[in-house]
Amino acid sequence: MSDKRRAVAIDGPSGAGKSTLARAVAKELGFRYVDTGAIYRTVGCAAHRKGLDPGDAAAIEALLGELQVEMTYDGEGLQHMLLNGEDVTKEIRLPEISLYASRVSAIPAVRAFLLEMQREMARKYDVIMDGRDIGTVVLPQADVKIFLTASPEDRARRRYLELQQRGTPQDYDQLLAEIRERDYNDSHRSSAPLRPAADSILLDTTDNTFAQSCALLRRTIEERLGR
Ligand code: DC
Repeated sequence: MSDKRRAVAIDGPSGAGKSTLARAVAKELGFRYVDTGAIYRTVGCAAHRKGLDPGDAAAIEALLGELQVEMTYDGEGLQHMLLNGEDVTKEIRLPEISLYASRVSAIPAVRAFLLEMQREMARKYDVIMDGRDIGTVVLPQADVKIFLTASPEDRARRRYLELQQRGTPQDYDQLLAEIRERDYNDSHRSSAPLRPAADSILLDTTDNTFAQSCALLRRTIEERLGR
């Protein structure tokens, strides 16, 4: 049997359900799920704590020298992010950190700083890795590349329902505007913009239930891996 690690790259815009779907399918297939957005969020969190302008490339680049960003997994296989040894897994999900993450992720030095830790995960484990540039930059040799998307309205609606269920409701129009802003930032930056890899498979989950999307994702991956 070959001991080559297998890698599935899943890219796509925010709120398309990448992380929930990738986590579920990784568990079913026995792969490790790697959420790369969380590492950009960790840098965004550091910038936010220091009160830095996330668009100030020189200040953010200087900050990187003080940062130790680590990814660990708990006994249940859940990914945790450590910032200089402190667990910031919850803090990085705050809404203000989302925009910080999107802004700092456009800075080439930030992307270079985080690249090797992502590749290292794929060397060590069979991974399903999700992000924006996994199929294009981080793992261009991935066995399967998927571009997972849904309409902005569908993504805003899901986020609206999720926040409502969590007891922290937010205005739908504001959520839609934020999604559009992040889409624009993520796909218009010059460094590793969000775009489908030429050899990626497009999956559009608009109007799907979670179970439908999960089955579609799993089937697509298994077909490509020849399982
Ligand atoms: O997936 P997410 O929404 O948690 O990601 C947060 C931000 O990080 C997102 O706005 C874009 C950026 N990101 C990136 O530039 N490249 C990745 N591979 C993953 C995320």
